[in-house]
Amino acid sequence: MLEFEQLGRRRASSYVDGDGWVGACGKVILFGEHSVVYGQPAIAAGIERAVRVRVERSTEACSSISIERWNISVSLADKLHGSAVLLQNVLKLICRHFAVEQPVHLSVDAQIPHASGLGASAALAVACSRALALFAGQDSTNEEINELAFACEKLAHGNPSGLDNSLACYGGLFRFQRLHSGVDLKALSLAQPLNFLVALSGKQGFTAKTVARVRQLWLKNKTLYDELFEQMGELTREAEAILAVDTAVDKVKLGKLINRNQACLRQLGVSCAEIEDILELASAGGATAGKLTGSGDGGAVLLLSDHRADVQQALAEKAYSSFSITIAG
Ligand code: PMV
Repeated sequence: MLEFEQLGRRRASSYVDGDGWVGACGKVILFGEHSVVYGQPAIAAGIERAVRVRVERSTEACSSISIERWNISVSLADKLHGSAVLLQNVLKLICRHFAVEQPVHLSVDAQIPHASGLGASAALAVACSRALALFAGQDSTNEEINELAFACEKLAHGNPSGLDNSLACYGGLFRFQRLHSGVDLKALSLAQPLNFLVALSGKQGFTAKTVARVRQLWLKNKTLYDELFEQMGELTREAEAILAVDTAVDKVKLGKLINRNQACLRQLGVSCAEIEDILELASAGGATAGKLTGSGDGGAVLLLSDHRADVQQALAEKAYSSFSITIAG
């Protein structure tokens, strides 16, 4: 794994696949969603090539973007409402940033669902930024792309921690913390890869809404919620120590921390019936541990398991789809 400084200097052109698509990572959060917004550390890992983008000149009057898997197609000429307007604004911001004035069309190949806690909006912002940078003849660095993607995330989510755009940009396994002075990102390395399943609840989770609800709860009872965030921060610190060993990670210990993190998220009120159902089925199928990943209220569940086929089968019986990821660090 490259050091963070080296990764920051890496250029957009190194994310172009042989077939001309420009990629960015999705992400899973192993520890610390929500508490990371309040300054606690989090641990997250990138999902490689989760979103890829290709740009071409358009013969239409205005620029446009189409994302087949999400069934979304938006032109800057359309009069739209809701999340489609956010996408238009993100596209406008990136085009303006790279001074792309002629109409272009962006085709998006998305391997992850959106509104599922897998960092799809940040991956989209990073992949579009890299692709448009290259189209405009500017081989931007990750540092520049990350800053622009953070601005896009602010448009989409209001008060993002910056974790999603950083992971979308850098990939790998990171400890992330938002400090008053900026962001502290530390690359973590694992002696041996870890296997997880990502299960999809089939219910969309909306980051801006969930983060705003948690904020209201925090404003009403800061003592209780600060204590909860502190506990989640402590779990992250303990997990970092477990992951840092130079032998194989102790999965029983790691699993206990994952389950305790889920208990905190439950207390925060961001779990839901579908997530709990997945956790129960997965545990019966032999998973060591599990927690929601991302903002919750639906979305995805991260399951630690060495028996992934059994767990997948248990989940499939209730029509929950899942996919495997290996975190190498
Ligand atoms: O649901 P996602 O993939 O956008 O992840 C959100 C993670 C939070 O910690 C809840 C918010 C943030 O900005 O870090």
